[in-house]
Amino acid sequence: MAKATVEAPSNIAFVKYWGVKDIDQAIPQAPSLSMTLQKCASRTTVEFTKGATEPDTVLKASPDGTLAPASTAFADPVRAQLDRIRTWSGRSGTFRVATQNSFPAAAGLGSSASGFAALTLATLRALDANPSGEERSVLARRSGSGSAARSVFGGYVTWPHGDNHAAEQIEPHTHWDLRDVIAVVETTPKKVPSREGHQRAPSSPFYEQRLLHLDDRMEAARESIAARDFDRLGPIIETEGIELHLITMSSTPPIYYWSPGTIAVLEVVRDMRADGLSAYATMDAGANVHVICPADDEPQVAARLDALDAVHLVIRDGIGPGPTSDVEPLF
Ligand code: PMV
Repeated sequence: MAKATVEAPSNIAFVKYWGVKDIDQAIPQAPSLSMTLQKCASRTTVEFTKGATEPDTVLKASPDGTLAPASTAFADPVRAQLDRIRTWSGRSGTFRVATQNSFPAAAGLGSSASGFAALTLATLRALDANPSGEERSVLARRSGSGSAARSVFGGYVTWPHGDNHAAEQIEPHTHWDLRDVIAVVETTPKKVPSREGHQRAPSSPFYEQRLLHLDDRMEAARESIAARDFDRLGPIIETEGIELHLITMSSTPPIYYWSPGTIAVLEVVRDMRADGLSAYATMDAGANVHVICPADDEPQVAARLDALDAVHLVIRDGIGPGPTSDVEPLF
């Protein structure tokens, strides 16, 4: 019997992955670029019993650490990923898995990137397998959550659409201390899963146009990160956040992820800039707003967001070093 625990953080995309060539393998239509977070993370413990034939067990840990069987909706994709990794490793045996999120479950923040990155990395460790970073990223991506491919690395990460469709780190977290102040305006789960949104993306009349300028935008984002140029990176981040939603709202049928609180935060972020703060907003496939800023501006940005009626909770996160196995097991 072998057991391993890994904590993997979530990530926030500056250039968004939206649209797929292959939905089951999460092969992206276009490149993306993200910053790996530090505090918003999933912790997963995996135990492997060699040669055992009973079904895998999937548990969820509550914030106080109490374990309970996961719902079928949660457990099925986890079991599918365990099967993929078992087949990849050529080993036979049974897994027992428990997982816990560090961020409030009701915060409406996507946890599939951190969850599948932690699951993939802990499973590999429990199997005593030590593949390359590239292969770890590919295995995480094959969970179907493409953004998990980026969460296996810390710092600034790009996800090219090269032959193996793996992500790679472009700069470590020590390169540039950017913060992500998350304004939680909606705590219910999103109505349309991103799996569905990826498939609807090409129905937007603006999608082809988006694909035409993404390579240039990726290059500009890379250059501004290399040069630590927030005046150049910030507008790219916010344009991308808006453009993702331009595509979702103009897809057939349309998807409206925003809520009135999203607009309220976007307006305040504009006011912050008028007042001299360096802050730019982005949204993933949901209503909550990630306000990206340099470390110096974080306290003021957090205070301005906290003061808004539309904001239920402010989570102050920032760039982090990536997954770690230096954590307590869940069982
Ligand atoms: O990894 P998925 O399939 O949940 O898709 C994530 C899509 C976005 O979060 C909206 C953008 C991104 O690049 O993370």
